[in-house]
This record gives sequence, C-alpha cells and structure tokens, in this order.
Amino acid sequence: MNIERFDNEDVLASALAVRLIEAISLKPRIVLGLPTGRTPVALYREVRTRSRRGHVDWSQVRTFNLDEFVGLGAGDAGSYRTYMQGELFDHVRIEPINIGMLDGRAANLAAECARYELAIEAAGGIDIQVLGIGANGHIGFNEPADTLDAETHVAVLQAETRAANAGLFDGDLTRVPTHALSMGMATILHAHEIVLMATGAEKSSAVAGMIDGPITTRLPASFLQVHPRVTVLLDRGAAARLA
Ligand code: PGA
Repeated sequence: MNIERFDNEDVLASALAVRLIEAISLKPRIVLGLPTGRTPVALYREVRTRSRRGHVDWSQVRTFNLDEFVGLGAGDAGSYRTYMQGELFDHVRIEPINIGMLDGRAANLAAECARYELAIEAAGGIDIQVLGIGANGHIGFNEPADTLDAETHVAVLQAETRAANAGLFDGDLTRVPTHALSMGMATILHAHEIVLMATGAEKSSAVAGMIDGPITTRLPASFLQVHPRVTVLLDRGAAARLA
C-alpha cells in the first residue's frame, strides 16, 4: 500500500480532489466509485469548487456509489442518494443517466444487487474507487464478521455503524435503518485503483490494523492488502498508531 500523510483533512481533501479532476481530464469516460459519510464532505466541497473554477468536463463521467440504506432512495432525507445530490451531483454537470446508485426502495433487493453488479461490469469496471473506513474497519457496509460477501448484497448494520450515521437523521438513532445495500468485497477489490481516505484519531486503530495487521474478516479493510494499487491518505490523527 502506498501511504500518504497530510497535516489535516483540508489538505488531504484538496490533494485528492486535484487527483480526481486530473484523472477525469485524462480519461473523460472514467468510472468513479464513490463513498458517503463525514470524511468525504471536504473532498466533495473541493471537487465542487474546483469543478466550477476549472470547467471540469463531467459530461461523460460515470459513478457508482458504494452503498445505500434499505428503504431509502432519491428524495428521502437521510438517503445516500440525497447526500450525493447535495454534496456533489447537483453542482457538477454529470448526466443523471451516468449516476449509478443502489435503490434501497427496490421491491426485490436481491435483483437490485444483481442489477448493480451487471451495471458496473457493463461500464467496464471501476477505474478509481474512493473509500472511507469505519472505526470498526468496515469498507462500504462490509462489517466485521466471520464471513464476508463477495458481491453486492443486503448488509445488517452494526450498532456502531448506525450510531455513526445518526447525523443524517437529526441524531435520532431510531430512524437509522437497520439494513443497507452494499458493494461486496470483490466488487470493491475489482476496481483498477483504490484510494482510501481516513481522518481523525477515532480511525487510527482500524487504519493501523488495515496496514500492519493480518488479513482478517474481522477487519474488512485489511483485504486491501491484496490489491496491487491502493493509496491510503491519512491526516495526523488517523496515522497516529502506524508503526
Ligand atoms: P465516516 O464513515 O466518513 O462518516 O467516518 C466512513 C465509513 O464508514 O466508511
């Protein structure tokens, strides 16, 4: 893994924004895998600002988000679709047809997961997958467990993960869904290139385990060790426990 350290989350976010925009200019039909959560808020802010200033051509860019809550979709408060519209999609000239998101309101969730795998494949796979990491070591909603799912699947959210998402629901834990749809480990690991961003001391144990620990289903991010092109971007807090 290629580890890069930054003084704070703002410099980290602008460095990654610059790289993503550069990647779009080199490959206009790029396929980006995108995360939600608190960590990428600064990234999307930088991408929006730079897209406005630099006339970045989003017209052919295709995206696939990592996950979505079961029961929620476009227009729903708290959905990742709504998050993505507000943080990025409403501010750049991406074609709606090029936005790949799981529909948490699909009547047949298994069919929706299968559709997503096929859509990613039809797009030619993900060129750059951007990831966050949970304090428990999850990527997407691949939570620590005895076994992990390879493909896009219905995931049961752990209490810690639901609590971390309460902010999307006015801090009301009872409104945070108990299940989500998520890309699986293979879906993520098939990306050509992976960039994981982590900020804050609360991520430092998961980050240290991911980089220096054994590969284990108890820390799903540790599987990134098998991928040949992974870059990990850390602020001081997240890097604090590295050897
Ligand atoms: P966070 O989530 O950015 O809100 O900490 C990261 C993740 O769970 O992947």
